[in-house]
Amino acid sequence: MISTLVIIPTDPRLRLGAQRHSVDAIGALPQNAFMHIRPATTTDAEQIGRIYFHTIRTVNQKDYTQAQVEAWAPEASASPEGWRLKQQNRWTAVAEENGVILGFGELEPTGHIDCFYVHHDHQRRGVGRQLLLAIEEEAGRRELSRLFLEASITAHPFFTAMGYSTVRQQQVTIRGQQLTNFVMEKNPPNVS
Ligand SMILES: CC(C)(COP(=O)(O)OP(=O)(O)OC[C@H]1O[C@@H](n2cnc3c(N)ncnc32)[C@H](O)[C@@H]1OP(=O)(O)O)[C@@H](O)C(=O)NCCC(=O)NCCS
Repeated sequence: MISTLVIIPTDPRLRLGAQRHSVDAIGALPQNAFMHIRPATTTDAEQIGRIYFHTIRTVNQKDYTQAQVEAWAPEASASPEGWRLKQQNRWTAVAEENGVILGFGELEPTGHIDCFYVHHDHQRRGVGRQLLLAIEEEAGRRELSRLFLEASITAHPFFTAMGYSTVRQQQVTIRGQQLTNFVMEKNPPNVS
């Protein structure tokens, strides 16, 4: 488990070497200047469900058909119960800013990264990068020798940029719809 908070400056003035800035400089920034990564709690399940549903229906929609995203993220997938249950058999990290969850990622005991989604209003702010680094750190603590996942067409460039290699492209069937994704892996995980 992550025992300390990872504080990530989202204000560009603090992106590099945040810890070296004076308290005065930090005090002058808007209140939402920081996000942090922490393990999810069951009370996060509601926001996690909404992020899953809306990210697929807006961000992934660019790369998949309407029928495919509806199969992948049916209305019921936003409901918190299933997400609370899932937390019992995996380690879920969330990125939070001022009480708002910006994204989440799931690490299963095998090293499989399951769900990994960033809020549609907070794409390309470094949220995914920080979540993935937290998962890799956790994998290091667990001495996992391999991380692997099935990346969507949308997420493939992100995981490639993060050092994951493509094992193969594949078609999966979800609720009767065929979807393309990519089996990817990092071996060994980049543990800092
Ligand atoms: C994939 C995803 C998680 C990335 O999260 P993010 O917070 O937007 O990514 P980051 O801002 O941390 O990006 C880190 C780096 O990855 C690369 N990257 C991210 N998105 C990219 C894109 N669409 N195209 C090319 N490179 C991309 C870039 O190198 C980026 O660094 P830069 O912004 O400094 O150039 C997010 O786009 C997402 O939620 N996608 C939809 C859900 C999904 O498909 N999840 C995966 C299911 S397997």
